[in-house]
Amino acid sequence: MRNLLVVGLAAGCLFAADTNEPSKYTGPGSCSSPSCHGGVQERSDTSVLQNEYSTWVVRDKHAHAFVNLTNPVGTRIAKIMKLDKPDTAPRCLACHALDVPVDQRARTFDLTDGVGCENCHGPASAWLGPHTTRDWKYEKSLELGMYNTRDLVKRTEKCLTCHLGTPEKTVDHELIAAGHPDLYFELDSFLSVMPAHWKEVDKDPWFGVRALAVGQAVQLREQLKRVARESQGGIWPEYAELDCFACHHSLVAAKDSWRQERGYEGRRPGNPPLNLSRFVVFRRVIQEADAGAAQQLASEVEKVYALVTSLKSDRGQVAAQASSTAEIADRLAQRLDGMKFDQPMTLRLMKNISADADAIAEQGERPAEQATMALDSLFVAYTKNGRLGNDQQIRAGINGLFKQLEDPSAYNGFQFAAALKNLSALLP
Ligand code: HEC
Ligand code: HEC
Ligand code: HEC
Ligand code: HEC
Repeated sequence: MRNLLVVGLAAGCLFAADTNEPSKYTGPGSCSSPSCHGGVQERSDTSVLQNEYSTWVVRDKHAHAFVNLTNPVGTRIAKIMKLDKPDTAPRCLACHALDVPVDQRARTFDLTDGVGCENCHGPASAWLGPHTTRDWKYEKSLELGMYNTRDLVKRTEKCLTCHLGTPEKTVDHELIAAGHPDLYFELDSFLSVMPAHWKEVDKDPWFGVRALAVGQAVQLREQLKRVARESQGGIWPEYAELDCFACHHSLVAAKDSWRQERGYEGRRPGNPPLNLSRFVVFRRVIQEADAGAAQQLASEVEKVYALVTSLKSDRGQVAAQASSTAEIADRLAQRLDGMKFDQPMTLRLMKNISADADAIAEQGERPAEQATMALDSLFVAYTKNGRLGNDQQIRAGINGLFKQLEDPSAYNGFQFAAALKNLSALLP
């Protein structure tokens, strides 16, 4: 029998703590008391806002991740994939809920809560009680199983477990063809879309730029690891690693085709290229940190690109090249997290990314999308700390880029490049 105690604590929270080892998942309900994280208004007199639960349950899409599995699209995905029901299929629950083994579920746990506090913050049973006591340190919670979301590398890794996948959790082209949205990510943009239930502990005024930089490194690393895994799997090439719109665009008369006009440099005409969206921005970021490393990374990524894009490479070679390149990206992630970004660097990044207009635009819609999200993040970070004089024009320019991505199948590389060059000309 479980040994449940009711603990009353400094903050006045009342909840059941499970004293059995090891750490268990208690469910967001355990955090929802108004005197814990369930307040309606945020508080400024405490170290945390105390309305985290309310923010999550009312405004955060993660709270609906489980329920959405049975929306019409989710139901059809399950039908196509020949899954019994989407809300009982482990394949889906892996990312849309907290599908931990039964012996790790505390009595209060409820699978239908979707992606909740403990998906990101780790199993709470061991720190739930003590972390509300006065003078309790974050580090002590970490020792008791809390996940370190303050650390930017770890934070990105956590998001990417679901927003890119792991060996156990996958969204591949089969699932996408069944109706699942394609997975893409950019840490700073996604953090600003997710309704924040925290005040950033990190007071770096250029936090957004660092988040972008670290996020880019980690997502490149994780994609390369995914390529390495998939090249050893059943179906290869895995279409979801390639430029979606190399295949999924509408055809026009030959004389009007921007793709034919562009040509197919570095590949056999007609072969779909590796999706380089996780590299086109990062190459500029890493150049700020270390020009030598940038060049080395570029030449290694180019090798992965060539191997994947040729469609007939030895799979072992693909895996080896992708894995060794992932290691470079990993080292860079750690370094970028320790780096200090500032105003001139932020502006330089915006200029360097937009100066790559042709190279980025020609890679296709997903790289263009990543560059647009990055420019948006950089612009937001810049204007938090200062003005550019023609802020409104630049904002309109960035919005114009987003507009070009609204119908990805109709994406036109030349038009995107022209818009990016216009933006570039607006930067001082
Ligand atoms: C690797 C993790 C992962 C797996 C596995 C996964 N999903 Fe998802 N799913 C996501 C993410 C992340 C999103 C949000 C994508 C975005 O908006 O960027 C999403 C979005 C969705 C949406 C759109 C939700 C909306 O707001 O309309 C549906 C429907 C969906 N998933 C159903 C499923 C079903 C059904 C399965 C199982 C067959 C499944 N998912 C498996 C990660 C996953
Ligand atoms: C999708 C991931 C995710 C979910 C779900 C989530 N959080 Fe968070 N949480 C974060 C991130 C990222 C931060 C910011 C980094 C940080 O401060 O740890 C954060 C910060 C916090 C903080 C401030 C911690 C600190 O460092 O001082 C609290 C408190 C918190 N979350 C509570 C909750 C509660 C309660 C829930 C559930 C109702 C929840 N979170 C759900 C990702 C998540
Ligand atoms: C356990 C899996 C999981 C983790 C971890 C996770 N997410 Fe999600 N996220 C999802 C799913 C599933 C959805 C789609 C929910 C829906 O719409 O039904 C989603 C949706 C989102 C959305 C909304 C996207 C849109 O199209 O509106 C944002 C933003 C987001 N996540 C950001 C983050 C960030 C930032 C982190 C890390 C701090 C994170 N997520 C961690 C699974 C996860
Ligand atoms: C190598 C070519 C190729 C690549 C690359 C590719 N697909 Fe597909 N895709 C196909 C084919 C072939 C089908 C099956 C079409 C059919 O049966 O009608 C398909 C089917 C689909 C479907 C379902 C059909 C529809 O019209 O709704 C979707 C959605 C889809 N792909 C999205 C994507 C996304 C997103 C990516 C990138 C992550 C991608 N595809 C990459 C070839 C490709």
